[in-house]
Amino acid sequence: MMTGFRRITVLCAVAAALALCAAGDQPAQAQYFGMDPGEVLFGECRECHTFEAGAPHGKKGPNLWGVFGRPAATAVGFEYSPELTRSGIVWTETTLEKWLRNPRAWIPATKMDFQVPNDEQREYILEYMRNADIAGYMKALQGLKE
Ligand code: HEC
Repeated sequence: MMTGFRRITVLCAVAAALALCAAGDQPAQAQYFGMDPGEVLFGECRECHTFEAGAPHGKKGPNLWGVFGRPAATAVGFEYSPELTRSGIVWTETTLEKWLRNPRAWIPATKMDFQVPNDEQREYILEYMRNADIAGYMKALQGLKE
């Protein structure tokens, strides 16, 4: 049950966000109603992927946990496309950014049928992924991960 106060607070947040949206020139944050934009956007990835240590693979895609520093197509137990498997890609912020922009422009026969053409949205998503697994990210940065 929402208290009256909380309901009003939520309504104000929505109204403020809508007003900002209408102004057209709003800070991007306003579109996400105060939530972490990366987390909200990553919700789309979750249609296919999981992103938790030790989780089973997602409905269509592999578990992305530990992806920073990992060679492409090496999450155990997921059946990748032969093209991604042969690609020789190692996942870094740079390669992930290129991948999310348009996976099929890079690996035409990949099974991933999804793209994030918006620069800002890709940045939010990668920021979310980095922060969620900051230890894995730092390890990858230091090249300690095989
Ligand atoms: C419609 C389903 C779908 C959506 C949505 C989707 N993916 Fe994927 N993704 C896949 C599939 C399937 C693969 C395996 C590709 C292959 O084998 O060629 C994949 C592979 C990947 C890989 C490579 C993983 C590895 O182990 O090499 C990354 C990274 C990735 N996706 C990130 C994302 C992110 C981030 C999002 C959200 C912005 C996303 N994906 C959205 C289906 C999806």
